[in-house]
Amino acid sequence: MNTAFSIGVTCNESPLVATARKLAKKNLLPFVEYFNRKCFDYVLTLNSTGLHIEDIKRKLGSLKIDFLNGKLAYRLRHLKNQKQLLARAIGLKVNFSPTILDATAGLGSDSFILSQLGFPILLLERSPIIFLLLKDALHRALSHPNIPPFSMKVINIDALIYLKKANLVSSPDIIYLDPMYPHSSKSALVKREMCFLRQLVGDDSDAPELLKQALISAKQRVIVKRPRLSKYLSEIKPHHSLLGKQHRLDVYLTRFSK
Ligand SMILES: C[S@@+](CC[C@H](N)C(=O)[O-])C[C@H]1O[C@@H](n2cnc3c(N)ncnc32)[C@H](O)[C@@H]1O
Repeated sequence: MNTAFSIGVTCNESPLVATARKLAKKNLLPFVEYFNRKCFDYVLTLNSTGLHIEDIKRKLGSLKIDFLNGKLAYRLRHLKNQKQLLARAIGLKVNFSPTILDATAGLGSDSFILSQLGFPILLLERSPIIFLLLKDALHRALSHPNIPPFSMKVINIDALIYLKKANLVSSPDIIYLDPMYPHSSKSALVKREMCFLRQLVGDDSDAPELLKQALISAKQRVIVKRPRLSKYLSEIKPHHSLLGKQHRLDVYLTRFSK
């Protein structure tokens, strides 16, 4: 995880300043007056539309997770192919209601799509900053009157620690992994959100270890999202792969899957 940057919490709407101060205190982050925010690399800004993070030093813009409005929400509503691909990867069938753990939550998009298939999803995210953005987005989406009910819960923890502690009874049926992709020469094509994410969380270079632990922990299968033509994660061959337009889902059946 990348921790080599400074970050503060700020707010430019007076009725929300007290809430922003509390958020800063609870997360051991400095609160900074809005006019002073430029002394940090990043600031988390709270306003009436939610929480977003702004890249001050590199001027890469800002990032907000929003399942309801904007580009991300539009993409999520129009991703029929990706939804079908995920349904096939989890082995969707009648009377099948697996417990699903997304061990690399990120911006929560894949989990949101999975939740639209009707499954409750538990998300794990180790970056405290991404966790705060995700929690805020989920709170807004879950309390929105026009969004059909869905179940997503996020915990701020390293999935390796979580999985090592989980015993067989609380092990999920399916573990979904989408660690950061390796750097690619096509990086200009990589979506802006993912570039922003990489700056904050780093390269997830421990992903091979996470896959090995997931293969021990998942009762039925592990699904790994990879770039379409890349090598298998940790060079471990899956039982089968599903090809999407941009990604590949590698499916590993675990010892309890029969
Ligand atoms: C590529 S993003 C995931 C994107 C996500 N699938 C989506 O649809 O938005 C990878 C995320 O996984 C998180 N991550 C990587 N390894 C992790 C671990 N061991 N435990 C918890 N989170 C992890 C990173 O911090 C990063 O936010």
